[in-house]
Amino acid sequence: MSPASPRRPLISGNWKMNFDHLEAIHAIRDLGLRIQPGDVQGVDVSIHPPFTDLRSAQTVLEAESIPVALGAQTCAAEDAGAFTGEISPVMLAKLHVTYVIVGHSERRTLFHESDETVAAKMKAVHRNGMTPICCVGESIDEREAGLTRDRLATQVGSAVRALPGDVVAGMVLAYEPIWAIGTGQAATPEDAQDACAWIRGVVADAVGEEVGAQVRIQYGGSVKAENTAELMACPDLDGLLVGGASLDASQFIEIVRASAHPGR
Ligand code: PGA
Repeated sequence: MSPASPRRPLISGNWKMNFDHLEAIHAIRDLGLRIQPGDVQGVDVSIHPPFTDLRSAQTVLEAESIPVALGAQTCAAEDAGAFTGEISPVMLAKLHVTYVIVGHSERRTLFHESDETVAAKMKAVHRNGMTPICCVGESIDEREAGLTRDRLATQVGSAVRALPGDVVAGMVLAYEPIWAIGTGQAATPEDAQDACAWIRGVVADAVGEEVGAQVRIQYGGSVKAENTAELMACPDLDGLLVGGASLDASQFIEIVRASAHPGR
């Protein structure tokens, strides 16, 4: 674990493949009505709608000065060209996207994204002035075989070697054990802390202690308002990547509020 640090928590809502652009407008307005300036004094917040919602989301967030950053769920590794169906990071930057999730386990598993692909996407996000949120995490089989740390070391090592050290300090890693995603069974604070501390150590070994102490590490997997405070109390955990509970503005704002705790 690292000593007291100025790492500012980041709470991110990953909407996955939910909400068309009209529903997105409603959801963001709902969030905007609930969010108070004090809610985001010590915490950064981002939402990650589907691509087709991004332009509408950007318009509402900016027009109504809602203090929430816009994020995307993935992007292409290339800036332009013959890649039918892909979305360029250049296009995302043009929509004022700040954060791009890279290597979510659903992308890795369902769409066969390798560590090499994830590394290429990390570079693409950085090249276009945005911040990657790189997801890592073990499957239940890997966990039961005692391979959690090996798996995390491989994924994290490959991701951070894609970027220069000073850039790694500003990126975000998300520890998302696959068995906890969408199952209602979150990792215990002890397990989450253990994994986040390990991840921080892998970053420190790869690019130096200082960078290890600066990089922000989120936890994701069945986060809800009720388990937020105990997870956020973990010293190496700097935020949350929230799936299902981010679709409900009242739940999401409760998570944001429960994340802002003093003494970090
Ligand atoms: P969940 O998803 O909060 O619905 O478990 C988390 C994620 O996949 O990012």
